[in-house]
Amino acid sequence: MSSRTVIRHGLVITASDEIHADVLVEDGRIAALATPHSQSWTADRVIDATGKYVIPGGVDVHTHMELPFGGTHASDTFATGTRAAAWGGTTTIVDFAVQSVGHTLREGLDAWHAKAEGNCAIDYAFHMIVSDVNDETLKEMDLLIEEGITSFKQFMAYPGVFYSDDGQILRAMQRSAENGGLIMMHAENGIAIDVLVRQALARGETGPRHHGEVRKALLEAEATHRAIRLAQVAGAPLYVVHVSATEAVAELARARDEGLNVFGETCPQYLFLSADNLAEPDFEGAKYVCSTPLRPREHQESLWRALRTNDLQVVSTDHCPFCFTGQKDLGRGDFSKIPNGLPGVENRMDLLHQAVVDGRISRRRWIEIACATPARMFGLYPKKGTITPGADADIVIYDPRAEQVMSAATHHMNVDYSAYEGKRVTGRVETVLSRGEPVIVQREYTGRAGHGVFTPRSTCQYLN
Ligand code: URP
Ligand code: ZN
Ligand code: ZN
Ligand code: ZN
Repeated sequence: MSSRTVIRHGLVITASDEIHADVLVEDGRIAALATPHSQSWTADRVIDATGKYVIPGGVDVHTHMELPFGGTHASDTFATGTRAAAWGGTTTIVDFAVQSVGHTLREGLDAWHAKAEGNCAIDYAFHMIVSDVNDETLKEMDLLIEEGITSFKQFMAYPGVFYSDDGQILRAMQRSAENGGLIMMHAENGIAIDVLVRQALARGETGPRHHGEVRKALLEAEATHRAIRLAQVAGAPLYVVHVSATEAVAELARARDEGLNVFGETCPQYLFLSADNLAEPDFEGAKYVCSTPLRPREHQESLWRALRTNDLQVVSTDHCPFCFTGQKDLGRGDFSKIPNGLPGVENRMDLLHQAVVDGRISRRRWIEIACATPARMFGLYPKKGTITPGADADIVIYDPRAEQVMSAATHHMNVDYSAYEGKRVTGRVETVLSRGEPVIVQREYTGRAGHGVFTPRSTCQYLN
């Protein structure tokens, strides 16, 4: 049974163009664009987008649904987290499957498929967290790439949990240089940080703000530098996740000036929040504990500038929610026991649109950093991340003039606070299609768990 939808009279925005065009959707894909209008198209469903933007659904390449961390689990399941993503105009997530030490990549991947399958409102894919590099793991990387898991995260932080030493990192990078995989790096010097954590706690510095103080910008920059040079030695590309420090951005910019295939993402929390939030009284700062940490406000300007100069290419959320009551609580009296992570999968598209309203980035750059480049970087383009004939009809009708106030009282993420409580932004998602199926219609949820499917990825399409 074929189904046709026409989206009329909107401004279609992609990373490369802004055109007044009508969009024809047929059987879940974009069939044609007509500019200015095509009166002849017949359809089962007509969406009037007069005065609205018609944009590709957001591609959030960094989420952690149900992640086990610090004795608890991230509070969004694939069901709740993907529904919230859709409410926020995101139609694809790439989540991190986890290899635990002593287990195979396959075991970790199977566990993640079991969590996600049949539960997602939007399409999803996986990266693989590699916690245990050995001969077997390296062989498994090749097999995973054939199954569409083409990127692998390693950690220079969290000794004893996810941590890899330089030798393990180099070996994984050498393998990725051969098999086309992309290494994603959590770049913080975790060995040094753990010393500073113990020293701070011994001095009685136990509150959330000390989380930010011990995880120093210089230790992010040092690890970023080391990761870049290891990748250079291996001849492999590198993608640094959740970049937050001016000094780390400088390392990326320098490597890119040298012509290296080095890329970076930042996240809305580093662009809009700061160490001031970590210092909020009555343990409220715990709501803002994540790693890399929120930095003093000055760092925000470097991140915005790097997004303009393309020294940073992607904004993802690192969505990893823990409730204030019952989860963040675990770290009362010891900041090192606060589960690390912030909610945000629902807020990213709107916060970045606010940056458009504020004149920080253009509309096309908004789509580039939130949709097109993440899709290209992680082998999903042009199926995802753009509006072009043949692409999946993952489309958001966005009202650029609607006002909203972000709040836990109205958001759809399964977490008891908003990191942006009370923040006013201009712009709001109105309607969302996922492969042509309406998931949100005029701000009513019409989606269903199980509509979203696992989406295998090709290798990185964004090398210099
Ligand atoms: O604090 C964070 N970022 N939690 C999620 C795990 C990670 O390192 O990305
Ligand atoms: Zn028109
Ligand atoms: Zn990380
Ligand atoms: Zn993360």
